[in-house]
Amino acid sequence: MKKELQERSSKKKLEHVALIMDGNGRWAESLGKGRTYGHKMGAERIGDVVKTAIENDIKAITLYAFSTENWKRPETEVTYIMNLIKSYFKRQRKKMMERKIRFNYIGDIDDPKVDPSIRKMFKETKEETKDNDKLTLTIAFNYGAREEIVRAVKKISSQVVNEEKDIDDINYQDIKNNLYTYDLPDIDLVIRTSGEVRLSNYLLLQLAYSELYFTKTYWPAFDKVEFEKAIENYYRRDRRFGGL
Ligand code: IPE
Ligand code: IPE
Ligand code: MG
Repeated sequence: MKKELQERSSKKKLEHVALIMDGNGRWAESLGKGRTYGHKMGAERIGDVVKTAIENDIKAITLYAFSTENWKRPETEVTYIMNLIKSYFKRQRKKMMERKIRFNYIGDIDDPKVDPSIRKMFKETKEETKDNDKLTLTIAFNYGAREEIVRAVKKISSQVVNEEKDIDDINYQDIKNNLYTYDLPDIDLVIRTSGEVRLSNYLLLQLAYSELYFTKTYWPAFDKVEFEKAIENYYRRDRRFGGL
């Protein structure tokens, strides 16, 4: 779709979209149901989003599934989300191979709070799908930009302490190389559903020049039509990166 729009400028080809999947709880409550129903139906949207991304020539999508702050929620909700991730993944693993999707994750997966079976499954699936090239699907799980930046600073500091790096030679590329996203293309567009207009500790450095798109639609209602509205909106924008 939108071929004429896509062709208008090669400078802004939409390669990588980051999504903040928000509003599951409110969507369910608006239907008189419990929040967990929203998480369940929210997970069901992912397949369509992947399909629409591929149809629109997008090479990477990064989904915010669980933040470093989401542990603050009631234990019952956290447990529900963890079990949902496990069962969803068990079902999707084979499909990712069939659809040539490269699976990736960002976030502190080695945190002891993370369920060992999720850690194992994420690591194995990443390895198993590493040569797939249709689309890179990254899940941000136990992800927080502040934690990511602290982690990068520690890594670079240890290189300085070990005299592998001179302090005066540190540049943005070094920081970039030590972020979870080091091997992903720049993020062109970030979409947040649910009407909240904030980033909630998502990819703070990576979004420096990304286009931001906010929609009131709750995540479980974010369908192909909604996604393509955002894509079309992106292609109408003028990205200047500080130039003219
Ligand atoms: C997003 O939906 C899913 C996660 C954060 C895990 P929410 O659970 O935040 O739903 P709302 O924003 O409370 O409606
Ligand atoms: C952001 O949503 C995190 C995810 C979508 C996983 P939240 O619902 O946690 O963010 P806040 O609390 O509204 O900022
Ligand atoms: Mg929310």
